[in-house]
Amino acid sequence: MTLQETILLDQMYHMNTFGSRTPVQFTHGKGSVLYDSEGRTYIDFLAGIAVNSLGYGHPKLTAAIKSQAERLLHCSNLFYIEAQAKLAKLLSQANKGGKVFFCNSGAEANEAAIKLARKYFYDRGAHKGEILTALNSFHGRTLAALAATGQEKYQKPFSPMPGGFKYLTYNDLNAAKESISDETAAIMIEVIQGEGGVIQGTEEYIRGLEALCREKGLLLIVDEVQTGMGRTGKLFAYEHYGIEPDIVTLAKGLGGGIPIGAVIARGAAADTFEPGSHGSTFGGNPLSCSAALAVTETITENGFLDKAAEKGRLLKDGLNKLKEEFAFVKEVRGCGLMLGMELDQGIQGKKVVGMALEKGFLINCAGQNTLRFVPPLIITEMEIQQLLSALQQIFQQISLS
Ligand SMILES: Cc1ncc(COP(=O)(O)O)c(C=O)c1O
Repeated sequence: MTLQETILLDQMYHMNTFGSRTPVQFTHGKGSVLYDSEGRTYIDFLAGIAVNSLGYGHPKLTAAIKSQAERLLHCSNLFYIEAQAKLAKLLSQANKGGKVFFCNSGAEANEAAIKLARKYFYDRGAHKGEILTALNSFHGRTLAALAATGQEKYQKPFSPMPGGFKYLTYNDLNAAKESISDETAAIMIEVIQGEGGVIQGTEEYIRGLEALCREKGLLLIVDEVQTGMGRTGKLFAYEHYGIEPDIVTLAKGLGGGIPIGAVIARGAAADTFEPGSHGSTFGGNPLSCSAALAVTETITENGFLDKAAEKGRLLKDGLNKLKEEFAFVKEVRGCGLMLGMELDQGIQGKKVVGMALEKGFLINCAGQNTLRFVPPLIITEMEIQQLLSALQQIFQQISLS
């Protein structure tokens, strides 16, 4: 179908949850390059919003999906599933311990984490249900994940929100201290806020939250849906801070494009769920676990993450050079291949995204006018240089206009 035919069908039959989308229809990809139905090519610095961690047509991932699809796509969790057990072991080892529950998305992983934290205290006779989360956070679109999301604009039309959430000013440790009450069960945090505009938690803040949780007997939940699976140059972004969360949530990059989410809980929290507590028809099925196994094995191979981190440094250095050259670039943030470039309010980030698209580069805009760069982890140095020189030309054009 042509792009125009698809747009027409979409307008007639698909709910308009995504507004007027970018008028591009991708047909296939190779490495970090995407091809569209009109014969154009794009270098991808968006990766399906931090999902396609191994890019397109990765031989190991494709082979794993193909081989599993030929044998068994799905079977119920009433039975044992080899790929699920293997993936759980790998994730647990990478997390230095814990047990895993599988679901299908980031929102679902966070829902499960919230349920787990509440049941943990219920089992101990303490009726604590309150979860502290951060303002400007993003935890997903299901009702509890939305209630955890500290952004009123997403919640407003859907009130009443499920109760039991309190919002903290991000990077303000005193606010966290003052908000803890007898009802508090857990603190749920992104160590780098992704949708919020690639805002990094300071070391003092993130470590301070862990210390507070230990002091007060609370559970620390780290939402690694966007930051996890190598995105920041380490398998889990919490590793940059030297902390040990009780619960970690994953999705996005875990399946490299096949939907899968996961919750890893360690210590006493690992045995909180029992038969009947939680479940999912599709969660952890053979296809998604085989894909995630191939992704996890690949990114934990010797040297893979070091290379991704190195490429992240190259991109960040280049973005910082642009900041020196153009006064309307306010700040460059993030680490690994999760980077943000905040622009002055006078320059429309969305316009820059459109100009980059015209030049054959995919990026997007998050939070307060922040360009976001989350390419496949296999992006090459040459592709990074190409993006940087395109951005230089775009910024030059904007300065002259
Ligand atoms: C940190 C974080 N948590 C949760 C989610 C929700 O994930 P999903 O869209 O897979 O439900 C997102 C999505 O952007 C996210 O960035």
